[in-house]
Amino acid sequence: MARAKSSGNAELARRIVERLGRRNIVLVGMMGAGKSSVGRRLANALGLPFVDADAEIESAANMTVSEIFEIYGEERFRDGERRVIARLLADGPRVVATGGGAFMSAETRARVAESAVSLWLRAELPVLLDRVRRRGKRPLLRHPQPEQVMRDLLAKREPVYAQADIVVDSWDTAQRAIAEQALVALDAHLGREAEQ
Ligand code: S3P
Repeated sequence: MARAKSSGNAELARRIVERLGRRNIVLVGMMGAGKSSVGRRLANALGLPFVDADAEIESAANMTVSEIFEIYGEERFRDGERRVIARLLADGPRVVATGGGAFMSAETRARVAESAVSLWLRAELPVLLDRVRRRGKRPLLRHPQPEQVMRDLLAKREPVYAQADIVVDSWDTAQRAIAEQALVALDAHLGREAEQ
C-alpha cells in the first residue's frame, strides 16, 4: 500500500516536472502562509532546486530584510525584491518562495506569468496571525496593532493573489499535507494546460 502510494507520487512528480519544462513554480501569499516550508517540500518532492526570495535578497544585500527596511525603507526593499526575483526566474526550473508583498508588483506578476506557474497559498487571518506571532522578524508587523496591519494587508492583497494560476488552502494542518495538495493541484493545472 505504502509502496503503491509512493510510486504514485513519483509518477505525479515526474509528470509535473516534464510538463513544467524550464518554467518555475512560484509561491505567493501572505506572511505566515507557509510559502517557504511548503515550497521546500514541493522542491524536494519534485527534485527541483528551492530558493527563498527573501533569503536571496538578504545575501545579495548582506543585510537582513529588517535592516533593509530600517536603513533604506520599504521602497528600496521593493526595488531589490523585483530585481532579485527577475534573476531567480530567469534560471528555471526552480521552486521559488516569494515574500508576501512581491506579487503586488505588476512587473513581477508579468514576469511570473511568463516564466512560471504561480500558486497562492491562501490562509485565513487567524491562521496567519498565529503563525506570524511565533516569529518577530517581520518589519511590517513592528506596529502597535499588528493584527490590524495584517487584516488591512490581507484585504488589499487577496484580489491580487487571486490572479495566481492555482490556489491551495493552507489550513492549520501539517505542512506535508498542504504540500501534497499543492502537488495534486499543480498536476491538475498542468494537465488542463496540456489538453488545450
Ligand atoms: C513582506 C513579507 C516578508 C518580507 C518582508 C515584507 C510583506 O516575507 O518579504 O518582511 O510585504 O508581506 P514573508 O511573506 O516570507 O514573511
